Amino acid sequence: MNSQNKYSVALTYNLKNESNLKNEDDQAEFDSIETVQAIARAIEKTGCRVVPMEATRSIVNEIQNRHIDMVFNFAEGLKGRGRESQVPALLSFLSIPFTGSDETTLAIGLDKALSKRIAMTENIRTPKFQIFFNSSDVLKKSLQFPLIVKPNAEGSSKGIIDSSIASDEYSLKLLTDRIIESYEEPAIVEEYVPGREFTVGLLGNGKDVEVLPLMEILFEKDENPFYSYNVKKNSEKFIRYECPAKIDSKLEKKIKRMALRIFTSLQCRDVARIDIRVSEKDNEPYFIEINPLPGLIDGFSDLTIIARSANMEYDQLIRRILNEAFKRYGMNEV
Ligand SMILES: Nc1ncnc2c1ncn2[C@@H]1O[C@H](COP(=O)(O)OP(=O)(O)OP(=O)(O)O)[C@@H](O)[C@H]1O
Ligand SMILES: [Mg+2]
Repeated sequence: MNSQNKYSVALTYNLKNESNLKNEDDQAEFDSIETVQAIARAIEKTGCRVVPMEATRSIVNEIQNRHIDMVFNFAEGLKGRGRESQVPALLSFLSIPFTGSDETTLAIGLDKALSKRIAMTENIRTPKFQIFFNSSDVLKKSLQFPLIVKPNAEGSSKGIIDSSIASDEYSLKLLTDRIIESYEEPAIVEEYVPGREFTVGLLGNGKDVEVLPLMEILFEKDENPFYSYNVKKNSEKFIRYECPAKIDSKLEKKIKRMALRIFTSLQCRDVARIDIRVSEKDNEPYFIEINPLPGLIDGFSDLTIIARSANMEYDQLIRRILNEAFKRYGMNEV
């Protein structure tokens, strides 16, 4: 395809707005202008024209008034557990092609309990859990301490603090109350899986899904052996990444197979990142959560680090996601 024929690609996004924060991490899911610019530059390098579109109310008219061939969807949406589906639902309604998973997969992926339920129906191991909707909810007898308490529909370690592990009923109550009150959403209470942590990047569709090299998150400090908001923010102090992970090939195959089954059962498209822990009790992988709209901060977001270790520079990663979508819609690759 010559450069005159290249497509108009709208880039949808939601920017951080750090004024009036209720919690320090309130805006953690949203993006900085630098990240949006980096994605836009990478799309431009493919020869496509970039039309930046912040996903605010005005996008409803703007998207219909411009000629757009494809949307590179990076919008977090505004509010609620369905927020990542807001822009994709609009695009599906208007029959405008877009990168990444559709609105149904994005809604399920953001809701940790729902995605775990789907995994369970596919016999994929995942820690036992319970949703706490109200502060008066009582812990089921089948769950065993220690338990980790997280907001049910957030990402970027939002709401996960260094003391988010409950070892008794008293600390569980403090932690669930904190989530329900401060984040105004249900808390997911899940059996804590002690052991190694891996995150798996996947690219592609159908039979051609590529499972990228496994990345291990190595926790350097014994007191914080999980990815809390603080650990993520100060990653250079608390963690080391190893990609490709040093792992025996049998376990590696098991983890990759699990990641692929989750990707397929949730009907993911083009890209996703899946978090898995291997329990030190039985050496089995457990599905923790899926990110069908993974962060793309160059050199910081896990997927960009994984891609680089697979010899895919940042711009190539963006191009690859875009091309997976073009292929899926039967359009020419760029
Ligand atoms: N059941 C569990 N057992 C052990 N550790 C857990 C468990 N659930 C979560 N964690 C730890 O907490 C971290 C954050 O949890 P999770 O991945 O569910 O949250 P998130 O905010 O959606 O993550 P992301 O930043 O990947 O979007 C995990 O990476 C892991 O270190
Ligand atoms: Mg995670």
